[in-house]
Amino acid sequence: MSRVALVTGGTRGIGEAISVALKDAGYTVVANYAGNDEAAKKFTQETGIATYKFDVSDYDACQSTVAQIENDFGPVEVLINNAGITRDGTMHRMNFEQWNAVIQTNLTSCFNMCHAVLNGMREREFGRIVNIGSVNGQAGQYGQVNYAAAKSGIHGFTKALAQEGAAKGITVNAIAPGYIATDMVRAVPENVLEKIIQRIPVGRLGEAHEIARGVLFLVSDDAGFVTGSTMSINGGQHMY
Ligand code: CAA
Repeated sequence: MSRVALVTGGTRGIGEAISVALKDAGYTVVANYAGNDEAAKKFTQETGIATYKFDVSDYDACQSTVAQIENDFGPVEVLINNAGITRDGTMHRMNFEQWNAVIQTNLTSCFNMCHAVLNGMREREFGRIVNIGSVNGQAGQYGQVNYAAAKSGIHGFTKALAQEGAAKGITVNAIAPGYIATDMVRAVPENVLEKIIQRIPVGRLGEAHEIARGVLFLVSDDAGFVTGSTMSINGGQHMY
């Protein structure tokens, strides 16, 4: 039986590439999404991957939907916490809603989702968790105190949970993507994005499948000795 992999924010952008790569590698993939029904429908038509709509910032929704997914497909052995949003703006103009939405969706979601799968992974003594951080959580970014704080939090969360999971066969790692050609990055004003690309030594945006390659390695059975690490995939923009 193939392992069940759950990808949050798994129908678009980096998450879509991760879902497809895991499916191609033989996993039974389930993708979560929050709001874009049309994109999710198209995604399922094209990939055959089942989707579940729920808000990863809602603790109760995460517990009940993961229980449903496990009932439908079997235990979740691989969890990819990828769902994330931006609400960019300089601090003096940022309101509490912009702060809170990003912290809840990008960081609290990791607690909510890990809590839903952790006891099962501990009982089975196997688990693979990959949290998608960001170069902007490592280096900071003008206009992103909320996003940088949440992503930086993911990196600390990963290292702490890795220590707790190690004795139970559960690895917990992070990937810190740089600027990847997705809708999120394309929403950055063109003049700002041009300047950012000038600072990427490889000289281009990354591709979503380049992040998915890293995920495939970290979730593999062979990667049992890799835990608490952060894999930076950023074209050399920040070496950490
Ligand atoms: N460092 C220093 N100064 C900067 C700066 C920077 N990085 N970026 C902008 N400024 C300056 C500008 O030059 C400008 O100065 P002047 O007024 O003297 O000309 C001033 O700050 C205001 O800049 P904007 O006109 O851009 O201000 P704004 O209020 O219209 O927009 C902003 C502010 C929303 C933060 C906008 O700059 C922006 O969208 N920046 C991009 C933020 C970004 O990189 N987001 C990443 C999204 S993708 C992602 O997050 C995925 C991932 O993990 C990588």
